[in-house]
Amino acid sequence: MSLTFRFYYALAFALLATSMPGAAQSSKHQPPVDLSARLAEAQANPQLATDLTLKGRRVAMVCANCHGEGGNSVKPDIPNLAGQNPNYLLEQMRQFADGRRRFDFMEGMIKAMSADEKVGVVMFFATQTVLTTPAKDPALAAKGKAYFDKICFRCHGSDGHGSQAFARIAGQQAAYLATTLKRYRSGQGTRTNPLMTDNTRHMTDADIEAVVAYVTSLK
Ligand code: HEC
Ligand code: HEC
Repeated sequence: MSLTFRFYYALAFALLATSMPGAAQSSKHQPPVDLSARLAEAQANPQLATDLTLKGRRVAMVCANCHGEGGNSVKPDIPNLAGQNPNYLLEQMRQFADGRRRFDFMEGMIKAMSADEKVGVVMFFATQTVLTTPAKDPALAAKGKAYFDKICFRCHGSDGHGSQAFARIAGQQAAYLATTLKRYRSGQGTRTNPLMTDNTRHMTDADIEAVVAYVTSLK
């Protein structure tokens, strides 16, 4: 863990302890909750949706230290959570918690959250708008668009917004995108996924740079 992360780790846990009394203990004694079923329940029940989203907004104040206000990160290597598909975010939380995706800090933090805090926070982020910036190098972004329109659109959509099943990538942070694509390409390490490994296997570093320039600029 870098020094910056150590600092935020301590800060975030101090905040968790004050904003979510008992959260760290309570999750241990509860039977496992099917997070997707709880999300579907809230999506079908406006009162529950409002309650959980409000709960999630409070939790998101802790996340804002790294993921930014309303989930719009200002750090190129930390992902935006704003506008992200709630099912995708819940799946990533499961992967952090069970070790399929590895990042010590997120693992500890997610294990300390209750099921309703997790569902609420992803519902809150889904209501937030991603802030994007126009491409700095339009020629590079145009190359990236050509690549994207051949391969990536099939799952992430031609606007990069994804779906219930696939991640939104439009407007995502550049350095985070590049690192993530290289991790998938290597097929081993802290983050793997067979579908993404198949679809990045033939990418050169230059292809990745171009696709990142395009995807980051997508609204
Ligand atoms: C100390 C900084 C820090 C804090 C605080 C933090 N995160 Fe993260 N989070 C990260 C980093 C860094 C990553 C990217 C990890 C990687 O590269 O795989 C990440 C990734 C994620 C992801 C995966 C996103 C994606 O696009 O795949 C989710 C979901 C997430 N965090 C949720 C949260 C929630 C919810 C909170 C607040 C309860 C939170 N994080 C607080 C640093 C933080
Ligand atoms: C066959 C479907 C499929 C195709 C085609 C595909 N992806 Fe994905 N993508 C996925 C899946 C599934 C995930 C979630 C994997 C996981 O849980 O880690 C994902 C995750 C991602 C992520 C991580 C998002 C985040 O917030 O961390 C990025 C970035 C990404 N894809 C970019 C791309 C790019 C760029 C292309 C084209 C070169 C592409 N994908 C093509 C299925 C696909």
